Amino acid sequence: MKRITAILAAAILGLSVSVAALAQQTVVEVYKSPTCGCCSDWIKHLQQNGFTVKTHEVRDTSAYRAKFGVPDQLGSCHTALVGGYAIEGHVPAREIKRLLAERPKAKGLAVPGMPMGAPGMEGPRSDPYEVLLFQADGKYAVYQKYGK
Ligand code: CU
Ligand code: CU
Repeated sequence: MKRITAILAAAILGLSVSVAALAQQTVVEVYKSPTCGCCSDWIKHLQQNGFTVKTHEVRDTSAYRAKFGVPDQLGSCHTALVGGYAIEGHVPAREIKRLLAERPKAKGLAVPGMPMGAPGMEGPRSDPYEVLLFQADGKYAVYQKYGK
């Protein structure tokens, strides 16, 4: 029994180490304005979930949104690049890891606007929100729902 527990523990540890290693090797390039506080909180959330983050302070984030092919109507406060995908807004680290594991044919993920309760937007309320998977032509589908 003790032995089985030890083997199980080793397997679980091995698994979590490899998932953490995957995130650590993955650099997320974040484009945010120097004054954005919730952007910094989102960056902390990524780091706490094992991602390495390279932050670029920029004056006009919408220029990067356009450059990386994020549809304007899905816009939020920051835009990021990871593994060839664009990430717009307060997308949970969990969905970024899932995106990098599944590698769907898409331009990226977006959480439009700034919903209360999303990572980096913690506060007195938690509103329901959706993580959207969007394509180069601007079409999108719900990738994951939160708070419902
Ligand atoms: Cu924000
Ligand atoms: Cu932001």
